[in-house]
Amino acid sequence: MQGCAYVDGRYVAPEDAKISIFDWGFLHSDATYDVAHVWQGRFFRLDDHLDRFEASLAALRLDPGVDRATMRAVMHECVRRAGLRDAYVEVLCTRGRPAPGSRDPRSCSNRFMAFAIPFVWIATPERQREGIDLVVGSRRRIPADSVDPRVKNYHWLDFVMGLYEAYDRGAETVVLLDGDGRVTEGPGFNVFAVYADGARPRVVSADAGVLEGVSRRTAIELARDAGCDVQLRALPLDEFRRADEIFLTSTGGGVIPVATLDGVPVGGRPRGVFGPVSQRLQQGYWALHDDPRHVEPVRY
Ligand SMILES: Cc1ncc(COP(=O)(O)O)c(C=O)c1O
Repeated sequence: MQGCAYVDGRYVAPEDAKISIFDWGFLHSDATYDVAHVWQGRFFRLDDHLDRFEASLAALRLDPGVDRATMRAVMHECVRRAGLRDAYVEVLCTRGRPAPGSRDPRSCSNRFMAFAIPFVWIATPERQREGIDLVVGSRRRIPADSVDPRVKNYHWLDFVMGLYEAYDRGAETVVLLDGDGRVTEGPGFNVFAVYADGARPRVVSADAGVLEGVSRRTAIELARDAGCDVQLRALPLDEFRRADEIFLTSTGGGVIPVATLDGVPVGGRPRGVFGPVSQRLQQGYWALHDDPRHVEPVRY
C-alpha cells in the first residue's frame, strides 16, 4: 500500500503503522481524529481541519503532546514521504494505555498519530456522474447527548450496520435519523436537501446532531454566494422525501449528488441528471481548490 504513517514519533510504512491492542483507542473507541485531503499537491482548508481536531481533543480531554505547528508539519511530511499528489491525510489521538492494573483514564498516556494514503472517495467520480443510491436506515443515530457527533469519533456501529442495510436493499450508502425522526448524517458525510418551489432555491441541512463538516461549510458558503436561501434546522423525513435535489458533502469527494432515495428518483429525474443547485455547488467546490484562500501547497 502506498502511503506513510507517523507513529511514536517516527515515520513508517503503512504496514508498520501499529498500535498496542491494549490502547483504549482500540479497546473502547476512545479516540478522536480528523481527515483533510490533498488535491493536486495542495491541502484544502487545512486550518479548518486543525481547528476541528483541536476542539475535538479538548472536548475529550485528550492531550496529543504536540502543538499545532508540529501536527501540520507531520501531515505535510507524511504526504511528502508518500509522494502523493492526491491524498487522504488523517491525524488521530488515542487515549493510550492506562497504568498497569488501572482503569482510570487519567493514568493513560495519550498518543498522537497520522498517516497519508491515496485519496479515498465516498463515491468515485464515475459513481458521482451517475448519482448515489441512498437509503434511510431503520437504525437510529447514536443520540447526540451520549456521543457528541461534533467531536469526530469512531463510534461507527450505527453507520456500519446501516451500510449493511443499504447493501441488502441494493443501495450504496445510508443516512440515519435521530430519535425524533429527523435527518442527521451518514458514514462520512453530511446531507442536504434542496427545494425549488420558492423565489429562490431553499437549501436545508441539519443544524444539530451532526459533525460540522468542512465540506458542509464549503457547500453552505457556496450556496449563500449563489443566492440560495440556506436553512440550517431540523429536517423531518417527510420533508426530506419531497426534496427536488439531495446531495452529500464529504472531504472524500466534495459535493456528491444523490440519484435515488429508498429507490425513488430524487426530483423525478432520470439517472445521471442532476438539479441545478447540486451541479453548481459541485463545480464550485472543485473550483475552490484553486483559490489561494483555501489551499496550502504540500512541502514536497
Ligand atoms: C459522521 C460524519 N459526518 C460528516 C462528515 C463530513 O465531514 P467533512 O466534510 O469535514 O469531511 C464526516 C467525515 O468523515 C463524518 O465522518
